[in-house]
Amino acid sequence: MQTNVEFLLNGKKVSAAVEPRLHLADFIREEALASGTHIGCEQGVCGACTVFVDGRPTRSCITLAAACNSADIRTVEGFDTDPLMEAIRDSFKRHHGLQCGFCTPGMLTTAYDIIRRIPNADRQRIRKELSGNLCRCTGYAGIVDAIEDVLKAPPAAVIQPLERTEAPKTNPDAPGFPEPLPSDSKPDAAPDAAPGAASVTLPDPDSFGSAAVLTKSMDLSAGIEEAWQLVSDPEAIVACIPGATLSGPVKDGIANGTCSVSAGPIKASFKGSARIRYVPETKSGQLVGSGRDGFSRSGLEGRMDFQLVPHGRASRINLEMRYRLNGPLSQFGRPALVEEIANGLLSDIAQRIDARLSGSALVKQQDQPTSISGLRLLFNAIKGLVRRTLSTH
Ligand code: FES
Ligand code: FES
Repeated sequence: MQTNVEFLLNGKKVSAAVEPRLHLADFIREEALASGTHIGCEQGVCGACTVFVDGRPTRSCITLAAACNSADIRTVEGFDTDPLMEAIRDSFKRHHGLQCGFCTPGMLTTAYDIIRRIPNADRQRIRKELSGNLCRCTGYAGIVDAIEDVLKAPPAAVIQPLERTEAPKTNPDAPGFPEPLPSDSKPDAAPDAAPGAASVTLPDPDSFGSAAVLTKSMDLSAGIEEAWQLVSDPEAIVACIPGATLSGPVKDGIANGTCSVSAGPIKASFKGSARIRYVPETKSGQLVGSGRDGFSRSGLEGRMDFQLVPHGRASRINLEMRYRLNGPLSQFGRPALVEEIANGLLSDIAQRIDARLSGSALVKQQDQPTSISGLRLLFNAIKGLVRRTLSTH
């Protein structure tokens, strides 16, 4: 069944009936014949397909065309008379910021976003913001030089950035948006959440039957009693989850806070709650949580079980994770890659627990919670997949 959509593409109204699974990049190239948008990885990694949707850089290869009803879409062809883009194009030429040009439409779009959004960006910040765009031939020095040069005296941008907190003007009835939580999954609703905290609607721990299960074991340098002391402190365990921050003290086992994920221009900040339960007799526990990213309208639900066991004179932690992601972000990557990313996350958690126990240098980094770098986890994921694929042949 096709869905009718209508949006602005480079200032012109476009109406079409599209298949629900048609990606925006394919629509732009095949139906609207605007081939300036390039398609590389088709899974949200390389940034070649980046276009503006309602003023926000967006991976068109993982965005459904049907979800863009009423949106204002601008591709690299839509900047012909834009003074800022003209300055960026000139600067790329002067600084040799391109060779084959495959990555260039995405690079130009991202450069435009960096310059209008972060007028005081230094080289390090430019590199960080560009981390979601890959170039296989030029290298990045010329591209960074080009952006740095335009930042010295940038002409006014015609397209203004949206506030990060504003939701895109997309169609909530279109496919790709998160399903509401099932009504029977509210047994852990906690009316005693801290004032101002996100509303607490926790999934049923037993509702993860069909979710992917990931397990990880890691030897810890401390004995089981010492390790239990750390693990049974809910605030310490949250501090070991990269990207997680608490919005207040943990009360009655309920933690409210935020978990941030970033991969180049893809940024999500899941606000939500988790319940932490402990079973001291078996030195085990369980964390069940759910969160929602308002900007991408995506939801994340997860359950992590952990248990400490003696291991020689030290101890070992066994972690088991189940999760569900819904909404537009769930289209990020193939399921196997998402699984590898979650696997990398489990390793990070185990390493952080061990670092806290052993007092190593990582402890200091833990005190400054950082967002989960999707890109770093993704590269590790791709490496892992390639290694396993090769070893089976
Ligand atoms: Fe969309 Fe690579 S083609 S990110
Ligand atoms: Fe060839 Fe970037 S210029 S991929």
